Amino acid sequence: MRKDVRILLVGEPKVGKTSLIMSLVSEEFPDVVPYRAEEITIPADVTPERVPTHIVDYSEAEQTDEQLFQEISKVSIPNKGASWCISSSYCLLITLLCGVDIFRVPLILVGNKSDLVEHSSMETILPIMNQYSEIETCVECSAKNLKNISELFYYAQKAVLHPTGPLYCPEKKD
Ligand code: GTP
Ligand code: MG
Repeated sequence: MRKDVRILLVGEPKVGKTSLIMSLVSEEFPDVVPYRAEEITIPADVTPERVPTHIVDYSEAEQTDEQLFQEISKVSIPNKGASWCISSSYCLLITLLCGVDIFRVPLILVGNKSDLVEHSSMETILPIMNQYSEIETCVECSAKNLKNISELFYYAQKAVLHPTGPLYCPEKKD
């Protein structure tokens, strides 16, 4: 069994990455958040897959590109495996990640702030999903309404533990 799971949230500023983490932890929407949440570790016994799970925030305001790439390498297979929280407009980064072998990570596309939109954004997301097989799943959620928050982190955990994409390496299975 894998020893732990590392989830990195990446996306454009203000999409709600930090709010998603804080909402998960406190089970309420925080009015004020720092740019970047401290890394948190969820103990194995309270995660659905019974694996300790580290959740890591990213903020362009506080971190350099170099620091971002260090975090990316920490979540990349064969290092550890990972999942991502990425806004749909981050296609360039996805392209970059999918194009470079050392950065093979299962991705999850997250559409936060679903409380602000009346219609589903799935139509926008599906073509992106079809283009990149590394994207394991997509989820619409709201940090504000606490909608799909625990589900989102569960999908991320599952994507690391049971990836269906091409990054699955049989020899790594133990
Ligand atoms: P950076 O750290 O700058 O990259 O931003 P971030 O992605 O961490 O976003 P942050 O959590 O700071 O949230 C940005 C703004 O969006 C804040 O004003 C939040 O209150 C708001 N926000 C976050 N999630 C939601 C949501 O689900 N619904 C609504 N309506 N607002 C949200
Ligand atoms: Mg933030």
